[in-house]
Amino acid sequence: MFDINNFDGIIYGADYNPEQWPREIWREDVRLMNEAGVNLVSLGIFSWAHLEPQPGTYIFDWLDEVMDLLHEHGIGVNLATATASPPPWLSLKYPDSKPVTADGVRLEVGGRQLYCPSHKAFRTHVRELTEQLARRYQDHPALKLWHVNNEYGCHVDQCFCSLCAEEFRSWLRDKYGTLDTLNFAWGTAFWSQRYGDWAEIQPPRRAPTYANPTQQLDWRRFSSDNLLTLYRLEADVLRNMTPHIPVTTNFLGFLPGLDYFKWAQEEDVVSLDAYPDPGGSRPHFEAGMSYDMMRSLRGGQRWILMEQATSAVNWRERNSLKRPGLMRLLNHQALAHGASGLMFFQWRASRAGAEKYHSGMVQHVGPERSRVWQEVKALGQELKTLAELTQARLPARVAIMFDWNNWWALEIDSKPAALKLMPLVQKWYAALKQLGQNVDFVHPEGDLSAYDVVALPNQYLLSHPAAQNVRRFVASGGTLVSGFFSGIVDEHEHVQLGGYPALLGDVLGLWVEEWVVLQPHEKNQIQLLNSGTTYDVFNWAEVIHLTGAEMLATFQQDFIAGQPAVTSHHFGAGKAYYLAGDFPEEAVIDLLAQVLLHADVPMCRLPERLNVTLSELGETCVLHLLNVHPTQPLQIRLPDGGLCFENGTYLPQVMTLAPYGIALVRYHRSVRMDELQVQDEVSAHAPSP
Ligand code: GAL
Repeated sequence: MFDINNFDGIIYGADYNPEQWPREIWREDVRLMNEAGVNLVSLGIFSWAHLEPQPGTYIFDWLDEVMDLLHEHGIGVNLATATASPPPWLSLKYPDSKPVTADGVRLEVGGRQLYCPSHKAFRTHVRELTEQLARRYQDHPALKLWHVNNEYGCHVDQCFCSLCAEEFRSWLRDKYGTLDTLNFAWGTAFWSQRYGDWAEIQPPRRAPTYANPTQQLDWRRFSSDNLLTLYRLEADVLRNMTPHIPVTTNFLGFLPGLDYFKWAQEEDVVSLDAYPDPGGSRPHFEAGMSYDMMRSLRGGQRWILMEQATSAVNWRERNSLKRPGLMRLLNHQALAHGASGLMFFQWRASRAGAEKYHSGMVQHVGPERSRVWQEVKALGQELKTLAELTQARLPARVAIMFDWNNWWALEIDSKPAALKLMPLVQKWYAALKQLGQNVDFVHPEGDLSAYDVVALPNQYLLSHPAAQNVRRFVASGGTLVSGFFSGIVDEHEHVQLGGYPALLGDVLGLWVEEWVVLQPHEKNQIQLLNSGTTYDVFNWAEVIHLTGAEMLATFQQDFIAGQPAVTSHHFGAGKAYYLAGDFPEEAVIDLLAQVLLHADVPMCRLPERLNVTLSELGETCVLHLLNVHPTQPLQIRLPDGGLCFENGTYLPQVMTLAPYGIALVRYHRSVRMDELQVQDEVSAHAPSP
């Protein structure tokens, strides 16, 4: 089977939509692709209407021609199953194949991704098209990879129609077996919600007030699974007909609707579409988090960046371009975080349609006079010198625990406060990166044994098996750091009684009695006992009672003044820390630095604009340093013995990293992050790009 790590170097390419262009352009396309070093294109993602213009009439001539042309020019094909956007005839022929919102509105023709995943005839058409494509191209030498559908759940991650209601009921029957079990799990004793017949159960459609929370949670689980069933339908066809060709479907990083831990187990290789906002203050943290999640989904396996923009997108309120150098830098970042393929949406910027103002490898201006094209071409050449990196692995000593079930549960309404998970995770991730760590994401029931430190920015929902997993990890010598409002409910969203977080109380050596939710105009403060440093606390604080834990910081104000705000506790051979409030990033950095120090994990303090990863490559180590600032250089003192990655010459120990500068440094021995120092940081808080 095709191996992404042996793809004749790093995969480089784009979505290719030749049906948008006359035939003459196709010849120019392949010539330019060769010039840019493109070796793979994603073909046919939105081609259903061109491949099957009428029900059952398939037209493949144009695709045959494109496949052959690409192959003649040495370009491989990541062939889409073309099911991402059904043609208008299909939606009109089967009006009930159009998805329905929670408010009961049926969505209409004119956009894309217009399908209900439960619709039987839609599924049949999907299967037939997939079979047709697999049959026709199974032996085509250009075919390297299957691209199933496109970004499942990107626009429509839940359909509330009656067909989905029926599927939901059958999913619930499989899960609970009896109505009594369901009634218990959903807590239907409250508000007269008891179900006496399966047929009474509905999706959580728009209701007079909060829908039952466990019903909502099961609905999110079902909706992810229901789309997965649709994916599986296509993947099964492909695996049967072309067992030698690997299968992927492109993910969207932290997409709320799909449990990617579950999905990724059904792919051969993970692929990602990433569009960090170049106008945002920290695009590298936004991107890096998704990259690290993709690497973590299949136990460290390298992955493909399937889509990104060469410059601006078209779908934000204001679409910043990527300044000269930023596109290259973000691609290096993906490589450093485990990508083996770097691809764009799309090859040629469209001249018509909804995405005509989205950048492409070939811009509207044409190649010769385009700054973006020069950068695209230069990157393609550069990647040829970096092929060895596809063999690197990124060992992490620290992992952030993450679970889609928790994300869904935390953000269901009727909580002590309307908490959002992502800002918390982003803050802890940014803190760990500024402490020089490679960061993995780990599922609560995943293998924790490889890590020294496991961080839970928030794990409101903690299943019993997950709690056991965490307990075992700490007991056998691991270090746990838990954020506030964690371990509160089990998998049914039932509160664990007896003082929060009941399932981890003995591990943490404390119990929480009350939550102090702060209004926007309110704040508290914490003071660290060892340094005297104080930090403001917003949004959330807690009333804690210690049952063996040691106090590391106290709250400073209100009726909890002098009471514990940060604690640590020995449990078995390990240690468990608790952060009892929503602390600012600087405080999280300070506290996590202390945790890493005690856990003997080497670290260094980096400015937020320096992205660092440390990977293992055979007997050597590679430091990948990226200065994510458009105008300010950085002076860095490297660990001793660094060699230039490209030519093996010794590097001076003090080096200047230019704005948007990149350095790849190889070491013969394993290198410690605490030997890296930033000497001349113009300002850690200078406005970022
Ligand atoms: C992706 C999608 C592409 C294109 C791109 C624009 O979400 O897969 O087809 O729409 O966004 O940024």
